Amino acid sequence: MVIVASSILSADFSKLGEEIKAIEHAGADWIHIDVMDGHFVPNITIGPVLVKSIRKITSLFFDCHLMIEKPEDYVEQFAKAGADLITIHAESSLNVKSTIKKIKDVGCKVGISINPETPIDLIKDVIEEVDLVLVMSVHPGFSGQSFIKDVIPKIKKAKELINKTKRKVYLQVDGGINKENAGIIKENGADVLVAASFIFKSDNYKDAIKQLKES
Ligand code: DX5
Ligand code: ZN
Repeated sequence: MVIVASSILSADFSKLGEEIKAIEHAGADWIHIDVMDGHFVPNITIGPVLVKSIRKITSLFFDCHLMIEKPEDYVEQFAKAGADLITIHAESSLNVKSTIKKIKDVGCKVGISINPETPIDLIKDVIEEVDLVLVMSVHPGFSGQSFIKDVIPKIKKAKELINKTKRKVYLQVDGGINKENAGIIKENGADVLVAASFIFKSDNYKDAIKQLKES
């Protein structure tokens, strides 16, 4: 069964604790935390302070997606705040291999992400060292954008690359996912779907998560 990583970016931040409890009860598997710095992407969102505070209210797996420059400088802070997995962008780190090592050294699982226009080749050399590959299906920065269909062949290629390793490596897709496109994304190999607006803008979180899992 596919894993649904519910991105809190579209939650109502005036009642974030209640929103997290609600998605937990609705069947979300992971909490996806979109960290943006206003440099790597044109938006500023969540930092370690908030991660630490929501860590107290749920034991769900914290999937921290760092869309920031120099992620290597913040790995320790996110780990201390309670991240379970830290995903960095292949485009953003000066030395991807050493940042991956740093994430492992602080005891977190590690993910590597690529933007829609970035070729899969950029991550070939690190596939053996990561626990997750994230293929972005929107330009990172905002929730509520439309899924870019052109990334589907890249999702398939990422799966082929993962299949060559003997280890469990999750294939995550993030951006514009809804009940109409979840099926084709899964058919092409994704095993973790990130969704923000499809869940938080729905009338019923439980139905929305069920639709992503069953479509
Ligand atoms: C975009 C973020 C996504 C975003 C997804 O930069 O990485 O995780 O929150 O939002 P939706 O599901 O609304 O496209
Ligand atoms: Zn994300």
